[in-house]
Amino acid sequence: MNDNQFAKKIVCVGAGYVGGPTMVVIANKCPEYKVTVVDISEVRINAWNSDELPIYEPGLKDRVDKARGKNLFFSTDIDRNIAEADIIFVSVHTPTKTFGEGAGKASDLQFIEQTARRIKENSTSPKIIVEKSTLPVRAAETMASILHSGNNSVRFEILSNPEFMAEGTAIRDMEEPDRILIGSHDTVAGNAARDELLKIYLKWVPKDKIITTNLWSSELSKLVANAFLAQRISSINSISALCEVTEADISEVAGAVGRDSRIGPKFLEAGVGFGGSCFRKDLLNLVYLCEYYKLEDVAKFWNSVVEINDNQMERFVNCILKTMFRTLVDKKIAIFGFAFKPDTGDTRDAPAIYICKRLLEEKARLSITDPHAISNARKDLSGIDERAEFVENPYEATRGAHALALITEWPEYRSLDYQKIFDSMSKPAFIFDGRNHLDHQKLFEVGFNVYPIGRPPLTHI
Ligand code: UDX
Repeated sequence: MNDNQFAKKIVCVGAGYVGGPTMVVIANKCPEYKVTVVDISEVRINAWNSDELPIYEPGLKDRVDKARGKNLFFSTDIDRNIAEADIIFVSVHTPTKTFGEGAGKASDLQFIEQTARRIKENSTSPKIIVEKSTLPVRAAETMASILHSGNNSVRFEILSNPEFMAEGTAIRDMEEPDRILIGSHDTVAGNAARDELLKIYLKWVPKDKIITTNLWSSELSKLVANAFLAQRISSINSISALCEVTEADISEVAGAVGRDSRIGPKFLEAGVGFGGSCFRKDLLNLVYLCEYYKLEDVAKFWNSVVEINDNQMERFVNCILKTMFRTLVDKKIAIFGFAFKPDTGDTRDAPAIYICKRLLEEKARLSITDPHAISNARKDLSGIDERAEFVENPYEATRGAHALALITEWPEYRSLDYQKIFDSMSKPAFIFDGRNHLDHQKLFEVGFNVYPIGRPPLTHI
């Protein structure tokens, strides 16, 4: 198709974990739309244009191959693509601010503002702007102020359309979503813009799964969805501490509680705590918003979800320390898993970072293994890694070790030869299973002293 034959031109600013897969699915489902993903990073765009995509997601490569060069394009020519676009998705990152007012909590909106200014400078025709990045509630107001500032006669209509994709299932989450959320202003122009976006999703999403709300509800719902998910994990982790002192078993408690259809069974796995690029960032952002609006009690409530998560990691470290006779000096600990969850090499805010740092502070020697996250682990610990080694092979990691600490529940860790591992370790040999992932009874029978989360330990000493 030549450029003029496309029904509409869609541009996405930001070729990251969200923008990339989202646009790939839209391009596949809407061949009559031209979809261009732009980014300031030439390296990233080159990767999207190559056979080695910059991110790994099951099903992504097939779908890129199907559409790239036909109606899906990746480009660094941001200005020209903005000028030609009818609909612009904004999917730039909004990390937690590290400086000045709100540091450590508020979202850093500099990339959003820069994008808004760039859109304004390059627009001569009306456009629909879609917020994809997770933003604080009422961020659309700020965007609108920038876009309509000065003597700019171009009209922009802003929509909020947050993503709910999890890493590892991004394509499925986008193709078979639980829901699609579109927030718009309740005006004639706002409703018209909303209908344009609806037209896209209706190509593959059943109408009853599409929720339309006002702009502020949509912006806030994204933060709240992640906060609720994180809250469930902190809730079950807080109870795991109680289980450990009462001899209740957290899996049995979670199983019994989750059978209540009002509660449901998902997201009730106790562990060393949540990680990933979203939960902590979005919770802190929510806390900041509550503080900004002087809702101190609400802020305190959500902040406690973060605190419980921090406690859970610290409890894990303390259990290791206390169990291993209160000293880790020069003891070798094999770390199984560094990614924030299995099936990804992503280590952003991974509990392993905190846990390894604390173990290194206690002067333990670490042998870190992970099927996909070794290179990120090296970066995360660089500068404090003189007592850490990074090895591909779990058997090598455990050779001569005093303890094994499992932090990420990679499936392959279940099928290792634990007799062989036990034989090669220093005695007494300890396993700290931070995800209740292994067969504890079997390990105990092999000779290990086993310390699960939220369950009584199985020990020989
Ligand atoms: C999350 C949300 O699920 C997704 O909807 C949102 O768009 C982005 O943030 P993601 O960060 O990819 O997705 O990971 P997720 O699968 O939700 O897991 C997050 C963390 O919670 C992981 O560290 C995981 O190990 C932990 N977790 C999850 C638990 O500790 N227990 C559970 O029961 C579930």
